[in-house]
Amino acid sequence: MSHFEIEGGNVLEGEITIPGAKNAALPMLCAALLTKEKCVFYNVPNIEDIEVLLDIFQEIGIQVSRDLESHTVEIQAHNIDVEKLRKCEKVKKLRASLLIMGPLLARCGECEMMQPGGCIIGARPNFIHVDGLRTLGADVLREDEVIHLKFQKNRLAEQRVLLSEASVTGTENLAIFLSGQDEKAELYFAAAESHVQATLRMLQQMGADIDGIGTHHLKIQGKKQLNGGEFVIPPDGILVGTYAIAGILTKGDILIKNIDHKELFSFYGSLKRMGANFIMEEGALRIKPTKKLIALPRLQTAIFPGFSTDLQSPFGVLLTQCEGESMIFETLFENRLTYLYELQKMGAQVEIFNARQARVTGPTPLKGTEVQSWDLRAGAAMVLAGLVAEGITKVTNINYIDRGYENFEKNFEAVGAKIRRVSSS
Ligand code: EPU
Repeated sequence: MSHFEIEGGNVLEGEITIPGAKNAALPMLCAALLTKEKCVFYNVPNIEDIEVLLDIFQEIGIQVSRDLESHTVEIQAHNIDVEKLRKCEKVKKLRASLLIMGPLLARCGECEMMQPGGCIIGARPNFIHVDGLRTLGADVLREDEVIHLKFQKNRLAEQRVLLSEASVTGTENLAIFLSGQDEKAELYFAAAESHVQATLRMLQQMGADIDGIGTHHLKIQGKKQLNGGEFVIPPDGILVGTYAIAGILTKGDILIKNIDHKELFSFYGSLKRMGANFIMEEGALRIKPTKKLIALPRLQTAIFPGFSTDLQSPFGVLLTQCEGESMIFETLFENRLTYLYELQKMGAQVEIFNARQARVTGPTPLKGTEVQSWDLRAGAAMVLAGLVAEGITKVTNINYIDRGYENFEKNFEAVGAKIRRVSSS
């Protein structure tokens, strides 16, 4: 397995262009299964999770063509082989394979698959997906190590679903399913994240009538015959945050291009409170050197438009370089503070009170050592820590990072970082 070796202490300077968002691309590609017509996607990130999803599509008889260089993917779902999905082991590698349920139930009236896997960041129950589909009229035949649903009626059982949590993929799955029905229905306590909005706009473009995009109340009038089309994956806000933190940590001067600022207000607010020097430009973010960073009394994750849980671990690294005590509250996932144990190995002053709360006291110089990636975002956080640490940092389990960060080390190298991928034989 490969690992990264990072020689810390280099100031980052230059430009980084942000690719398409993983968490928009996954549901948008799945929405293409609603129609027999061709769907063409631009700005699709070249990352492991997309690779796995497209492999699953091909295994179940969907035509996929992909041009890595131009970041283009074409999907045509003339026929979908429900039987093959039943046996497909690859769904276990990716939690987002849950997103196949909605379109398959709408299109084929049945979906059976093994329980999907993913990062180990908490329980991440599927009940929002399954309960929502059950409320709308699906029969749940199994939901243990296999999920088996059937939707055999021609009508929805209910026209309203109240989600018990504003789940991102739960909302996407239900909205995709409803877009394929000739009926009107409403989702309450829907998620409003920018990638959910992008998926809903795609469904609109395919012919569904959707009201309330960006709010927690969606009204969806679907239709059985949806059209294909051309769709652009929006830029990845989590990557913007990750590279911005790298710039601030190293007192660098970098320009991050291809940004939708709207999804980052909460992140910018936290940066502002700690005194970071940055400028919002049109479609870009400029990071300038900051002399002194001040601790944040409270960094609390929340659903959109609150502070994204996906930026919590990269931000935790920044807190080690702030003067004073910062408290972290991870309110969404119950297992997303493990990276702090790795930061402790590097010399960070961290007290972990429980699985969701910790205190970081800074500034503390970090020292290079061997640390591991606990999940996708925790892995990225370790790389950030390595950029500012004294000496060499070895980051292991980087397969997690490859799931969601395209050209991670190359982007850093291009702005002056010393990072290399070492493949072990
Ligand atoms: N949660 C709450 N209250 C809420 C909503 C969610 O407590 O109102 C909790 C859930 O119980 C769960 C966690 O928050 O433990 C996340 O829930 P959600 O169902 O929204 O997560 P998801 O749909 O499985 C997506 C992203 C994750 C991202 C979360 C939260 C995709 C493919 N995955 O997961 O992305 O962390 O939303 O924004 O879109 C990642 O990219 O690293 C990643 C894990």
